[in-house]
Amino acid sequence: AKITFITKDQEEIIVEATSGSVMELAVKNNVTGIDGDCGGVCSCATCHVQVDPSHVSKTGEASEIEQDMLELDDDANEYSRLCCQLQITDAMDGVVLNVVK
Ligand code: FES
Repeated sequence: AKITFITKDQEEIIVEATSGSVMELAVKNNVTGIDGDCGGVCSCATCHVQVDPSHVSKTGEASEIEQDMLELDDDANEYSRLCCQLQITDAMDGVVLNVVK
C-alpha cells in the first residue's frame, strides 16, 4: 500500500510497503515526528497521527487500549491514531496521515 505522511512542516513523504506497522515504516523512512519510543506496544503515543478525514474507512477504528492512550494526549481528536497499531494492508492504499508532533 502507498502511504503518505504529512509532517508538521507540511513535508510530504510518500512510501510504500506491504506489511508491518505504519510506525515501523515511518521510523525506517525518517518521518519527522514519529519516534515510536515504546517499540510499538501502544504505550508511548510518540507515533500519533491524524488520518485524513476522508480516509477513515481505510484505517478502521482505534482499539480501546489505543483510545485510552490517546485520551492522555491534548492534541488528540476524532481522527487520531497511534500508528504502531495500524497494520499495513492493501485496504490502506492511498491513505494520507498527518503527523501531529
Ligand atoms: Fe508507542 Fe505507538 S510506538 S504507542
